[in-house]
Amino acid sequence: MKVLALQLEKSSGCALMIDGKIIFSSSEERFSRIKSDSLFPKRSIKAALDFAKIKAKDLDKVLICSTEITLYASLVNLYSSLNVKDQLRMMKEYWEPKLVQNKRVSFLYFLKDKIQIDKYPFNTKFAKVFPFLKKGFKHKIDQNDQKKPFQSSKDAKIVSDFFKEIISNYLKIDKKIINHVDHHTCHAAYAFFGSPIRHKNSTVFTADAFGDYLSGTVSRYDKKNNKLKRVKTYSHTQFQLARIYRFVTIYLRMLGDSHEYKVMGLAPYYDGFRYKEVEKVFHKMQKVKGTELIFNKKIKNIFYYLEKELFNYRFDYIATALQSFTEKVLVKWFQNILNKYGGSHITFSGGQSMNVKANYQISKLKKIKKIYVCGSGTDDTLPIGACYDYASKNNKKTLPLENMYLGTHANYSNKDLKKFSKYKITKVTNMKQVLNCLIKHQIIAVCRNRAEMGQRALGNRSILADPRYGQNIQKINNAIKQRDFWMPFAPVILSEHQKKLIINPKNLESPHMTFAFETTSFAHKNLTAAIHQADKTARAQILKKIHNKDLWELINLFYKKTGVPGLLNTSFNLHGYPIVNTIFDAKKVFEKSDLSALWINNHLIEK
Ligand SMILES: [Fe+2]
Repeated sequence: MKVLALQLEKSSGCALMIDGKIIFSSSEERFSRIKSDSLFPKRSIKAALDFAKIKAKDLDKVLICSTEITLYASLVNLYSSLNVKDQLRMMKEYWEPKLVQNKRVSFLYFLKDKIQIDKYPFNTKFAKVFPFLKKGFKHKIDQNDQKKPFQSSKDAKIVSDFFKEIISNYLKIDKKIINHVDHHTCHAAYAFFGSPIRHKNSTVFTADAFGDYLSGTVSRYDKKNNKLKRVKTYSHTQFQLARIYRFVTIYLRMLGDSHEYKVMGLAPYYDGFRYKEVEKVFHKMQKVKGTELIFNKKIKNIFYYLEKELFNYRFDYIATALQSFTEKVLVKWFQNILNKYGGSHITFSGGQSMNVKANYQISKLKKIKKIYVCGSGTDDTLPIGACYDYASKNNKKTLPLENMYLGTHANYSNKDLKKFSKYKITKVTNMKQVLNCLIKHQIIAVCRNRAEMGQRALGNRSILADPRYGQNIQKINNAIKQRDFWMPFAPVILSEHQKKLIINPKNLESPHMTFAFETTSFAHKNLTAAIHQADKTARAQILKKIHNKDLWELINLFYKKTGVPGLLNTSFNLHGYPIVNTIFDAKKVFEKSDLSALWINNHLIEK
């Protein structure tokens, strides 16, 4: 059974499942080189079919993630075209009049300068269902324009038909094999079936800002039938935790829907008591009552409320308070759900599961024996979940993900290699050659084998460095990353020797960097460049040999030489750009940056 699933909104992309196994998954940004690209994922689809050496006509099913998708994401490439200034303007000129002053305002009018009508698929014959997209339409959109094939279920049907036309035309397949899968069903199926957990006492949590009018669900696993049964849903108007996080990110003049991780990274820098006052501001908005999550009805507009209430507080108090509030809400919610529905084995997905600090706090709950959080629980992994959901509902196999190396291969020919001829090229026959670069204090960029799906580089599209030297942080920032000064780098560590470095009493598996662990005093001294500088936690990738043999061997050699079973690992990309995909992307970044060594499949390239 061959199933292709598509994400058509934020971070568009696809996943391909054949006979219960996820064969390929990638986001469009890796091909288009536009961060968080939301345009139609034609390049990822082509890469998936090419990888599996199949034709679209061989597909049994094509799935669209989410049932009520809008046109906004693709019409304006919403998640790539707005900057912080635009988001702040949106708060003032759209949300405030609409929510606080009860005025009629048009979202389309607000976005009209961002509309990219020439970009596929709006310049096709199928766009005729949207009369307002006719030639010259931009001038006709006025401030009170309420035309919106976007917001009601009837509108969603029009948009759905539009995308089905586009897909069937592009793939030359029958429209009848195309179906939608509900947003949180995708998150839940990804969380559970992507994980190695198949325990009969399993509970699955999802949490995000919004997806098909929900922002959270709880499901229980029916082992006999290998299916998930949803036991609880949360409306996006009641469970607004992720939305609060997003609005605080914008309030702090960082990019919403993108830089939330920076606020999380900032949080540990303040360790005084004044954050408690700020935390009260957040608790007034969102409460946990038993298994319910209740939002304060009096607060009509979160951003407006934040501006009024946070005015007197310094940015770091705010970040600390927000993270503390988030952890408390999530821990209490998990606790109350487990008390009511049970569950010793937990899986979790949705954008909120990217909060690695909260995940670690949740893992401490006594009732939890095992918790597994799949990589990149944001919407880019919805297609993987959609495939799993379809397989499970049709009583087919649902094989857990073996790893996240699901993307494009970094293959190259001898002719391609010649393009690097102005550099020193060495054939790698022994891993000690790579080790020597690290020991010589070189920062090594890696572009080998298949690219990782999702937002974490796990050794195949990574930058690796000796973690013992704090100055490597500055060196990497100067060479390529230009990271905000407070943001930590993370380590990749050997599972066998993890006790030397991290505190992991429940022996959590974290092959995709989904928990921020407390660390040992040995790590404070020897993993200096790869732990958080303020609270010494580490968003560790815990590596087993089966995950990535070459990387494991390299770290093992480093361990034998230095006594430290880990390396610094950060993603291989220029600041603000997607992670590299092919060796040609790698070459461009290598040339534009001050990186001195590049490790491609079997060769080391040095400047
Ligand atoms: Fe989501």
